[in-house]
Amino acid sequence: MDRRDFVKTTAKGVAVAATPVALSGRPALLDRGKHFAPAVHTHRARPLCVADVSSIRFTNGGPESAIVRAFRGISTGEDVLDAIVAGVNIPELDPAERGIGYGGLPNADGVVQLDSCLMHGPKKWAGGVAGIEGVKTPSLIAKAVAELTDHHLIVGQGAQDFARSLGFEIHDDLNTEESRALWLEWRRRVDPSHWLDPKDRVRRSRPPEQNGNTINTDPSYETRIQDFYSASLEAGLSMVDDNLIPEHSFWGTTSLEGLSPDGEICGVTTTSGLSWKIPGRAGDSPILGAGQYVDNDVGACGSTGRGEANLYNCASFLIVELMRQGMSPKDAGMAALARVRDNTIESRLLNTRGFPNFDLRFFILNKQGDYAGVAMYGTSESMFAVCDENGAREEPLEGLLEGLPRD
Ligand code: GLY
Repeated sequence: MDRRDFVKTTAKGVAVAATPVALSGRPALLDRGKHFAPAVHTHRARPLCVADVSSIRFTNGGPESAIVRAFRGISTGEDVLDAIVAGVNIPELDPAERGIGYGGLPNADGVVQLDSCLMHGPKKWAGGVAGIEGVKTPSLIAKAVAELTDHHLIVGQGAQDFARSLGFEIHDDLNTEESRALWLEWRRRVDPSHWLDPKDRVRRSRPPEQNGNTINTDPSYETRIQDFYSASLEAGLSMVDDNLIPEHSFWGTTSLEGLSPDGEICGVTTTSGLSWKIPGRAGDSPILGAGQYVDNDVGACGSTGRGEANLYNCASFLIVELMRQGMSPKDAGMAALARVRDNTIESRLLNTRGFPNFDLRFFILNKQGDYAGVAMYGTSESMFAVCDENGAREEPLEGLLEGLPRD
C-alpha cells in the first residue's frame, strides 16, 4: 500500500469508526461507556492521536471531533501542530463543553479565564497563555506566542492585548447562559445567605398565634443552612455529586497529542482551569512540563485533572523523561502517578483511605506509536480518546488506585 492509499484507507476508517460519536449529534456527557473498545495499549500506530474525552465527545455541531480533525490533518500531511490545534479549536468553540474555551466554567468572580500551552516537537519551540479573557481559542494565542515571539508564556491582560494586536476578536464575556447559571448556583452554595435562589423564595403567611415571634420553619431554608458549604471547592464538588457538572469538566481541560507517519510529535493542552478558581489562578495547563510536554526524540504527554498536583511534580516532563530511559508510556505514567500519590501528604488532600482525593490523568504516546491513558483512579467510566488506522474511539483509562477519589 503506498502512502496515498494508506491515507485514503485510514481516512475512511476514521469516518466509519467515528460515526457513533462524531456524526450522530452530541453524545450526552454523562452517558459514558457506550463508545469504547477494550484497551490495546501495546498497539503501535503511526499516525496516532491520544487525547482527553472532550476531544472525541464534542463536535460543535460539525462533522468532526477534535481527534478526528487532528488525525485527518496529520494523515494528509498537515503540520502536526496545525492539525491538533485545529482539532482542539472544535471543543474550545463548542458552548456545550464546559471545561474549555467559550462556555468554560468561570472563576470565583464569574469571569472566564483560559489557559493553554503547546509544543512543536520537530521545531523545538513552544508557547503558552494563562488567565486570558475574551478569546475563545486560547490555543491559537499560545501558538502565536510560540510562532511570533521569543517568549514562552504571556499572561492575563498582556495575553489579551497580544491577541488583540494580532487581530483576534475579543469578546466581552465568554460565559454562556448555562455557565453563568452554574456560577450562580455555586455562589448560592458558597454563600446562601446572600445569594438567593428565586425558586426557594416562597411567600409564607405568618401564623397569627406567633405574632411576630416566628422562627423560620421553611424546609428549604433549613436545608440550605444545613447544606452550607464554607469551602468553595466543596461547593463545586457538591455540584459534581449532584450531576450539575461532569467531573471531567470541574478541572476542565483537553489535551491532544499527535504523532505523524514520519515520527513528528506535537502536543496541545487547553482549559478554562479549575471551576470557580481564585481569579488569576493558573493551573498546570499553560505550564510546560506540567500540563504538556513533548520531546520529538521520545514522545509526548498531556494532562487533565488537579493542576496543582501536576505542577508540584512536573509530571508531564517526568513521564517523557522516564520514556527516554526506556519505560513504556503506561509504566512511565504509572510511575508519575505514584510520585504524585506519595507527594500528597496534607490531610485536606487525602481521602479516608489516605490516598489523594482528586483525579489526575495523562495521555501519553511515544515515537514508536505506543500509547497509554492512565489516571490516579480508573473506573469503568473513566475513558480517554484514541485515533489511529482503526478509527476514533474511547478506551478505558488505566488507574493506579482503585475506587473513587473521595471514597
Ligand atoms: N488541569 C487543569 C487545571 O488544573 O487547571
